[in-house]
Amino acid sequence: MKKYDFNQVIDRKNTFSFKWDNVSYGDKDMLPMPVADMDFPVAEEILAAIDQITKHEILGYSIVPESLQIAAQKKIANDYGWETELAWQVWIPGIVPGITAACAAFSSPEDGILTAIPVYHPFHLVAGWMGHPLHTFPMIEEAGRWTYDFVAFENALKKGPKVFLFCNPHNPGGTVFSTDEIARIKALCHQYDCKIISDEIHADLIIDSNVKHRCIQSEISFFATSKAYNTAGLGGAVAIIPDAATRLAFQKKTFGFFPMLSRHSIEVMLATYAMPSNWLDSLLPYLRSNHTLLISRMNQLPGISMLPLEATYLAWIGFDSQMHGDFQKRLFDAGLHVLRGDQFLGGDFVRLNFACPEVQLLKAIDIIESVVYATR
Ligand SMILES: Cc1ncc(COP(=O)(O)O)c(C=O)c1O
Repeated sequence: MKKYDFNQVIDRKNTFSFKWDNVSYGDKDMLPMPVADMDFPVAEEILAAIDQITKHEILGYSIVPESLQIAAQKKIANDYGWETELAWQVWIPGIVPGITAACAAFSSPEDGILTAIPVYHPFHLVAGWMGHPLHTFPMIEEAGRWTYDFVAFENALKKGPKVFLFCNPHNPGGTVFSTDEIARIKALCHQYDCKIISDEIHADLIIDSNVKHRCIQSEISFFATSKAYNTAGLGGAVAIIPDAATRLAFQKKTFGFFPMLSRHSIEVMLATYAMPSNWLDSLLPYLRSNHTLLISRMNQLPGISMLPLEATYLAWIGFDSQMHGDFQKRLFDAGLHVLRGDQFLGGDFVRLNFACPEVQLLKAIDIIESVVYATR
């Protein structure tokens, strides 16, 4: 089996990296673990596709070929168990703009947008971008994992939102929703006439090998290869929208706003779908090992706790603010950048991206331990 070297440390500084060249770092030597991209080299099949474009020397406008449509259709059927039609696909430059367009199409200033919190920040920020009311309900801890408070979910649905933003696997917290949970979510949204907009970008990043990602098969479902194959900076995603009227309403909010996909994005997605599965077969054990290392060390620390993730490489680490104060700032001052729980409407938590060589993770753990044990 082909091996990928995830231990390799690649210097990403001075590459205009959103993660490594963050302006807030100044001259400080920071270890960045905020935004969700991986510090691993991209697979050589993907790099070869980019080389081919460079050799050809042309960067004109591109179309989405049928081969890409078929490749996405096959993956959604084979890996997530959903048989879809090619006509249902709408290719878009990214999922975040897709979510905004979906909200523009189906929410209004009267009814608003519903999401579970904590959540990936564009899910709650979009309400402010649109000027629509935001409705939320909390995730709760149950049997050692994060799930919905279904009573609070139903109460929020009663307020009349027309759009429910569903993140599966959930970011942050890593929940992969079970078939039963998905059935409950669908039944409730159907009962209250609320469209489900589903974001499944983390579907391949399964940490708990006992769980399987299943699609909710909702009005609009977004998929992308960009997280699991580390091509997030290139953009490119697909929306699956079975109903023709819903599809047209969504597309109308994209016309004139969404650029065409670049040749790079298309060729890279084609190469990604064509890749043998051993990229994930190599990546996932590496991420699982980092996850085990992190969770075992975190849960030994006073006033620090972390639930195991079912998916994603984004650890959601709780802290006791009585003991640790402004923990995110203290970590930042000590040279580790993790995201503040508040960014996700999540309170006393930080989010740490562990998709990095183990040596970097060990350094991060050292910093966390030194901050936890430092007297304030
Ligand atoms: C749940 C979720 N959706 C979407 C995105 C970003 O998607 P895109 O780059 O396609 O807009 C992220 C990035 O971290 C994410 O975590």
